[in-house]
Amino acid sequence: MERKWWHSAVIYQIYPRSFQDTNHDGIGDIPGIINRLDYLVNLGITAIWLSPVYQSPNDDNGYDISDYCAIMKEFGTMEDMDSLLYEASKRNIRIIMDLVVNHSSDEHAWFIEARQSKDNPYRDFYIWRDAKQGHVPNELMSIFGGSAWEWDEQTQQYYLHLFSKKQPDLNWENPLLRQKIWEMMNFWLEKGVGGFRMDVIDLIGKQIDKGITNNGEKLHDYLQEMNRETFGKYDVLTVGETWGATPEIAKLYSNPSRKELSMVFQFEHVCLDQQEGKEKWDLKPLNLSKFKQVMSRWQIELGQEGWNSLFFENHDLPRVVSRWGNDTTYRIESAKMFAILLHGMKGTPYIYQGQEIGMTNYLAEDISQVSDIEAINMYHHRLSNGYTKEEILCSINAKGRDNARTPMQWDSSQYGGFSNATPWLALNKNYKEVNVKQALEDKCSIFYTYKRLIALRKEHDIMVWGDYELVPTDERLFVYERVYNGVRWQVVANLTSEHVPFKRDRGELLIANYDNPTDCLRPYEAYIINKEI
Ligand code: GLC
Ligand code: CA
Repeated sequence: MERKWWHSAVIYQIYPRSFQDTNHDGIGDIPGIINRLDYLVNLGITAIWLSPVYQSPNDDNGYDISDYCAIMKEFGTMEDMDSLLYEASKRNIRIIMDLVVNHSSDEHAWFIEARQSKDNPYRDFYIWRDAKQGHVPNELMSIFGGSAWEWDEQTQQYYLHLFSKKQPDLNWENPLLRQKIWEMMNFWLEKGVGGFRMDVIDLIGKQIDKGITNNGEKLHDYLQEMNRETFGKYDVLTVGETWGATPEIAKLYSNPSRKELSMVFQFEHVCLDQQEGKEKWDLKPLNLSKFKQVMSRWQIELGQEGWNSLFFENHDLPRVVSRWGNDTTYRIESAKMFAILLHGMKGTPYIYQGQEIGMTNYLAEDISQVSDIEAINMYHHRLSNGYTKEEILCSINAKGRDNARTPMQWDSSQYGGFSNATPWLALNKNYKEVNVKQALEDKCSIFYTYKRLIALRKEHDIMVWGDYELVPTDERLFVYERVYNGVRWQVVANLTSEHVPFKRDRGELLIANYDNPTDCLRPYEAYIINKEI
């Protein structure tokens, strides 16, 4: 496989709204990101994935874009964006833009035109259908709840929205629409961006009349065309968000010979703690054997024909310490364990802002404290279906997207150093103990575990290129090895708060979250050794 910079990269995701406010409106902004670049240099990351900063009415916090070539006023200006690109490149950090092209905002000029009349030149940029006997065209549901069809009074047709009704789906079958998207992507590539993270990209080949939304027939044709027309000429990273990917499908996207994407985010491990055939809100405990099996299958199956992205968190997911670790007694141990477990694997690791200091889920006591459209829609829907408020809040506190969206905790001052004004979303109450300032001062903090893991990846090819082998062991432990050019590293992690008998192999210790080995693995103990062979 031809070696590219992104094979050995570590990516840091920024959710700009919650990262750093500089102009005292309680909303993070681009100048705030610039101010914190040196912090990211210290951590050692290679690139930033920037959640959307484009002009948007914020129905879904920027994932509803009304102008792809303008910056959201709250975040700053295009000059700010240009200085971010400049300041980041000075520090050898690339900026990966979020590309949200399954849908636009209903306030995008294309949609404003499209809804004027059935013969408007932009009409076909979106997906319209007649009513069927006075009802919606079919049973398709929106991922944010309710029907995926919205009636348009003026033109007497329904339009499709797989997310909110302010996020109408774009019609990828229209070549002119694709042309406009290529132009927009080239605009950003010419500015020097480091690549794209492609929002719900597996939906663009949808075949609505057959009821197919993800993995439609034309999906890979569109991506090959995109590659040819835009980023294929640049040395950039592309990562698709693909909830519907299996390892077989992931190879279609990421096998270099197919000229599509660098890699995809797959979500099989992320869906393991939800009840079969139900929604993410329908909780079930994580089955550890299943977890190991799924993670290992992706490691092994992509082999030489694809590339993995490695992640536990992002702006749509809860905090991993709260979800699968222990965010009270063993917050530090379990946060480090998940870091070691993930970064030891083969693929490109992603760190979501705050993960590197072990930020935890937010406990909402009432729906008035929730901001996310997905959770709010679900709340009302379930309330009217007989669920109790307590049950629903329990699901939101476990899985809601606001868990990861509370402001970054920089220090213990009021509003955690995020802002001087009331933040758009309340801070997690633990910001006085859990914050960057504290983490930087404590040489044993979670931050330094991440820093060390990133440094190890830079120093040792085995972390990037080594083959993966699962080591069968106690159900509560996750043990695997990486093998490269006669060298063998072993990664050991206790996934539980129990003491589990396990004898450490001989070898050089590279990283650990406890001192002095014993004949047991302590709660959430994890380490990596270079085995003597
Ligand atoms: C993706 C984004 C999510 C957004 C949705 C619609 O899943 O990560 O935040 O709400 O797409 O754009
Ligand atoms: Ca601001």
